[in-house]
Amino acid sequence: EPKKLWGGRFSGKTDPLMEAFNESIHFDRRMYDVDLTGSQAYAKALQQQGILTAEEQQQIHEGLERVRQEWKSNQFQLKPGDEDIHTANERRLSELIGSVAGKLHTGRSRNDQVATDMRLWLRDEGHKLLTYLCELIQALATRAQTDIDILMPGYTHLQRAQPIRWSHLLMSFAFWFKDDAERLCQLLARTNRLPLGSGALAGNPFRVSRQFLSNELGFDAVIPNSLFGVSDRDFVAEFLYWGTMTMTHISRLAEDLIIYSTAEFGFVALADAYSTGSSLMPQKKNPDSLELLRGKCGRVFGSMSGFLMSYKGIPSTYNKDLQEDKEPMFDVADTLSGSLQITSAVISTLTVHKEKMQAALTDDMLATDLADYLVRKGVPFRETHHISGSAVRMAEDKKCQLSQLTVEDLKTLHPSFEKDVAEVWNFERSVENRASLGGTSKEMVQQQIKQVNVWLQTI
Ligand code: ARG
Repeated sequence: EPKKLWGGRFSGKTDPLMEAFNESIHFDRRMYDVDLTGSQAYAKALQQQGILTAEEQQQIHEGLERVRQEWKSNQFQLKPGDEDIHTANERRLSELIGSVAGKLHTGRSRNDQVATDMRLWLRDEGHKLLTYLCELIQALATRAQTDIDILMPGYTHLQRAQPIRWSHLLMSFAFWFKDDAERLCQLLARTNRLPLGSGALAGNPFRVSRQFLSNELGFDAVIPNSLFGVSDRDFVAEFLYWGTMTMTHISRLAEDLIIYSTAEFGFVALADAYSTGSSLMPQKKNPDSLELLRGKCGRVFGSMSGFLMSYKGIPSTYNKDLQEDKEPMFDVADTLSGSLQITSAVISTLTVHKEKMQAALTDDMLATDLADYLVRKGVPFRETHHISGSAVRMAEDKKCQLSQLTVEDLKTLHPSFEKDVAEVWNFERSVENRASLGGTSKEMVQQQIKQVNVWLQTI
């Protein structure tokens, strides 16, 4: 029967069912590295206060280093009673260096320890995710530059609306992801604050220098209230929200591409590398990567809502409910890691059928341009909207294209129509007319690409 770290006041045994219910080692072992780093810093802070001699500090430091090597080389042997990563590391340390290991936890609690581990872990993982997110933004901007001359129908309500540049659509997602990147940076800044030295709740009685701990562990600030330090998990909630929003954007992009890759649209084709076939229908090539991306959005949202449910009713300060913070955090990090990389790859390897996009442009999508033509001749837009609508109906009645109406036909609707109305029937011109900031003209889209590229340099 292994001795429990907290076993002193107990005489009865723990039900094995309860052991299994209580343990978190099978998932929090992922934090072994930051847990050891935090302990090494804490040992130094204890030495400064005379709790450890220089020699003891050195022994602990090296012992923890050996534990790290065991984890790294997959040699670490879990034992019954290793309740979580903190108890497992301490148990192994004491096996390696003996009773001096028992001095490490002086003034520290697993409460400030776990809060520190979580923040360190998320800080490192968050920077990886930021890199993947920037790679996705880069993939979109690069593709937008290459495909700058491709026009396609823009949709509202999934009905053909106005011609746009395909690059303009790609860049709309780049700007979403740019906001996601900014959100991630902001939450990582709030994450990077030190709880260690808060003790169980009331603070550290050995006057360890928390400023020293903060510097040693690369935090930007010391959390100024110990109760807040041990019970705050807002940084987890923010991360889960960030994941949810980012997946929502990925999901909407995936949905567009799924629709565009149907035979009915045929605008894009996914690379074989990101498609799969059917076990029954030999002809099938399915956009599974995109469907998984869309589906995983729900999973991430579930992690966020699940955690917030657990989080909302917890009394001050540490309560075991807080152990429920880890699996959602790990799962969202893993899901986003995979999703961001797959999305980048899908975008960079996509085949775009520009002739199909071009062929889907129809004259009726220039009805707004027809109304704008009259606006330029001084007719109020409210009237021109109506007149252009009548022209659409007239073309329907005559079973011809809008552009096939003669000047005489149009003159029956308004006297200001002249021969130069022929210039309206040009998709390129329509797109180039949208040349105010943020519009779909070539120059404006190129400006967007430039803006994103410049921003990518700063991050
Ligand atoms: N495994 C625990 C968690 O993840 C560590 C903190 C335990 N603290 C305690 N007082 N029981 O939250």
